[in-house]
Amino acid sequence: MKIYIGSDHAGYNLKQAVKDHLEKRDVTVTDLGSFEGEDSVDYPIIAREVCEKVLEYPHSKGIMVCGTGQGSAMACNRHKGIRAALCPTVELAEMSRRHNHANVLCLGERIIDEKTALTIVDTFLDTEPDSAKRHKKRVEMLDK
Ligand code: RB5
Repeated sequence: MKIYIGSDHAGYNLKQAVKDHLEKRDVTVTDLGSFEGEDSVDYPIIAREVCEKVLEYPHSKGIMVCGTGQGSAMACNRHKGIRAALCPTVELAEMSRRHNHANVLCLGERIIDEKTALTIVDTFLDTEPDSAKRHKKRVEMLDK
């Protein structure tokens, strides 16, 4: 599984922790920045990089981290074909995959602790979309 990960300055530390965590799993992680530590970077720029890669490789997934995750989710959802989910809880991560077939996970470093974030990441990656017709139909409607 290919994972594209990115963050702004406010999500940088959590992005690094998620990347280290993913490198221990059977996935290929590509870090698209920020590479500038806590120096200010605008989240829409990195979100675009992540979304373009996810759209290029349909079975891949993206993870975006900023201070709250909110700006990342807004930026990602401007890209047709991207279904970005802001998930501060494990339940939301699971349901965003099951019912909404989310392909980008957005996290807020200032909102959740690292341990919770890693559980959310694992849940997001390990949950398959529910293939029931009603969910597929609704997901398809998002891009129409
Ligand atoms: C940066 O200060 C902060 O606004 C950004 O990381 C994010 O939380 C926006 O949604």
